[in-house]
Amino acid sequence: MRSERSWQARFDELCARKIRAAAQAAISPLATVVDRSREFDLTPIGDAWSCPLFDGPFFASAPRDGLPAIHLVFVQSRSGNTGAEDPETLGAGATDQHLIYEGLSRVLADAVVAGSTTIGPETFFSVWRPELVRLRGALGLPRHPAQAVLSLNCTMDPDLYVMFNVPDVPVYVLTNSHGRARLEPRIAARPWVRVVDVDGPEALPQQAMRLATAGIRHVSAVGGRRAATALVDAGLVQDVYLTTSPIEAGQPNTPWYVGSAQPGLRAAVRKIWSTERGEVVFEHLLVDPRSYGMRVSGKDAKRRSALTAASVTGDGSFFTGSTSTA
Ligand SMILES: NC(=O)c1ccc[n+]([C@@H]2O[C@H](COP(=O)([O-])OP(=O)(O)OC[C@H]3O[C@@H](n4cnc5c(N)ncnc54)[C@H](OP(=O)(O)O)[C@@H]3O)[C@@H](O)[C@H]2O)c1
Repeated sequence: MRSERSWQARFDELCARKIRAAAQAAISPLATVVDRSREFDLTPIGDAWSCPLFDGPFFASAPRDGLPAIHLVFVQSRSGNTGAEDPETLGAGATDQHLIYEGLSRVLADAVVAGSTTIGPETFFSVWRPELVRLRGALGLPRHPAQAVLSLNCTMDPDLYVMFNVPDVPVYVLTNSHGRARLEPRIAARPWVRVVDVDGPEALPQQAMRLATAGIRHVSAVGGRRAATALVDAGLVQDVYLTTSPIEAGQPNTPWYVGSAQPGLRAAVRKIWSTERGEVVFEHLLVDPRSYGMRVSGKDAKRRSALTAASVTGDGSFFTGSTSTA
């Protein structure tokens, strides 16, 4: 294990790099094309810097049923690919990265969660624009959200990852008893790393409940698709923030949801902005809670596919695809 001092130096250097990139980013203003936000019970987020750029407030659902509100954030290529070693290559540009992904979608976050494949040694989830740092502070939130990782195998080595080595910032590893046994010896000297292990098919809701007990109300879930799908299938996701770039890129056939029961989604807000490569679309999609009602009450595939059909043909405003809404 490195010394605490050398981790601090590495973390300071990472923060300086992130802050510099965010400050230098050229952010384009968005234009609203659909705004149905008043139809939902949403919390507005924004300030005098972000609202003119985002063309209004950013919105998030509130926590419900004693669980944290989980907000998925994805960027996809024009044809819906999300898999890419570097998601920046998907082509949505600096505005998506700095205003939405590392920006407004994280302002309320008590924790940011990712699947183990998505994190790397230099991963650390936070906001970096000074305006948004101030906004978090004004909301009484700590400088950095907690870092959370979904992993059953727990093969990651905490000695290599910055996120496991910032003592002021809690880390939650959502795993099972097998993962706990594997990880525990490697985190013994890191009391700020908490293993949330639950076995069985209902693990994720119970893990979410434990996060709520630890004071976590809003979770920004940043993918990848397998982690996102597990959260959706567990009935935990309320908002999907989906940015669609104007280019073909990414690994083929890697949509943000890869399960067999895509929930109904409804667009609360749709916005666009221009880049050199074409128009980028941002959608704030709300997961139809009726989807989750069906999941809880009926486990058979027939009822699920009945739900999917209802989503497409019902009131016309729900859909099951990932890029277009009514
Ligand atoms: N376009 C975007 O916005 C975006 C966002 C994020 C990532 N990405 C890209 O997407 C790719 C990664 O996506 P991915 O789907 O392969 O991987 P992923 O979702 O990041 O991670 C998958 C891993 O998460 C863990 N996991 C999944 N479900 C779990 C559950 N219920 N409980 C505990 N752990 C669970 C497992 O870890 P273990 O194997 O450790 O058990 C699994 O192997 C990368 O190319 C990445 O760069 C794109």
